[in-house]
Amino acid sequence: MKAIVYHGPTKKSWEEVAKPVIIEDTDAIVRVDAVTICGTDLHILKGDVPAVTDGRILGHEAVGTVEEVGTGVKTVKAGDRVLISCITACGSCRYCRQGQYGQCLGGGGWILGHKIDGTQAEYVRVPFADTSTYPVPAGVSDEHILMMADILPTGYEVGVLNGKVEPGDVVAVVGAGPIGLAAILGAKLYSPSHIIAIDLADSRLEAAKQFGADITINNGREDAVKIVKEMTDGLGADVSMEAVGVPATFELAAALVRPGGRVANIGVHGEPVTLHLEELWIKNVTITTGLVDTYSTPTLIRLIQTGMIDPAPLVTHTFNMEQFEEAYDVFGRASETGALKVVLTR
Ligand SMILES: NC(=O)c1ccc[n+]([C@@H]2O[C@H](COP(=O)([O-])OP(=O)(O)OC[C@H]3O[C@@H](n4cnc5c(N)ncnc54)[C@H](O)[C@@H]3O)[C@@H](O)[C@H]2O)c1
Ligand SMILES: [Zn+2]
Ligand SMILES: [Zn+2]
Repeated sequence: MKAIVYHGPTKKSWEEVAKPVIIEDTDAIVRVDAVTICGTDLHILKGDVPAVTDGRILGHEAVGTVEEVGTGVKTVKAGDRVLISCITACGSCRYCRQGQYGQCLGGGGWILGHKIDGTQAEYVRVPFADTSTYPVPAGVSDEHILMMADILPTGYEVGVLNGKVEPGDVVAVVGAGPIGLAAILGAKLYSPSHIIAIDLADSRLEAAKQFGADITINNGREDAVKIVKEMTDGLGADVSMEAVGVPATFELAAALVRPGGRVANIGVHGEPVTLHLEELWIKNVTITTGLVDTYSTPTLIRLIQTGMIDPAPLVTHTFNMEQFEEAYDVFGRASETGALKVVLTR
């Protein structure tokens, strides 16, 4: 079979590799029908994630058809159409028992395309198949359900639920990439009074309007803190979310929040960030951080089925798997190409 194999910083190729086989009796082998590329894969290719070593197949999001299951797999069988979540769960450790699958101590967590071979391949071995896949409901397309593998649960759990968005809230989202846009889609479910999207790229701000932001601020040209304070009687946003992952945007998210408000950090940070406690100590703010757990996936799937969440505008480009290198190029130049999520099918 063929797969995207990582060969050290900046190097990857779509090449012939051995087809995966069952190793543990809780594994499934899944034929990948649709797969996407994450911003985190670009981080890996820059060398930011040293745990990913030469020879690793990348990818942690996919939809596929089960080919074979180990003898210990109970709820998944050959022929089933499944969503492969970015988070694998052993199902029985202390964290899995609390729904905090991202922190799994039993060999799960974010492992696909990280510690074990991932989904950017024609076939993938999925450990703990019973607790790491979700059945795809009839009538939902592969490319739409694929948005559930990572970005929608991330924006919803780490942004909206950690930030405790409530009806009437003013919600500010710093960064309008796929994750920020997913957070906007999730925040809308709670009827906020305003959703403010903040980004340096006008193309991303245009996308944010389509996803439900009613105010957009280009913080390269405008003073986001001043605008948000002016529209909130000098107070600030009830909830601010950081969906970029650089020091400046965390500091901005912290500066945007009102006294008593919530700052939900979603971005993956590679550098130390300044926490301005000299300003925040008196403001009663709550700051949350998190890796997605994907406990909300079944809920979000139901919301897709009833049309309460429409993932369609997230998919901007489609390719077949033979065009993987081109798909990486288009996704890697998102500010020029307007790419949000690229989907590759067989
Ligand atoms: N916590 C989790 O579990 C989790 C899961 C998945 C992804 N992430 C992280 O979420 C973050 C966002 O992911 P994404 O795929 O949307 O990334 P992305 O790179 O596609 O989007 C980031 C956006 O931020 C904007 N931006 C960059 N610098 C800015 C600045 N100074 N001010 C305002 N906007 C700025 C960019 O223009 C872009 O639109 C990343 O750090 C990613 O690694 C976290
Ligand atoms: Zn991802
Ligand atoms: Zn576990």
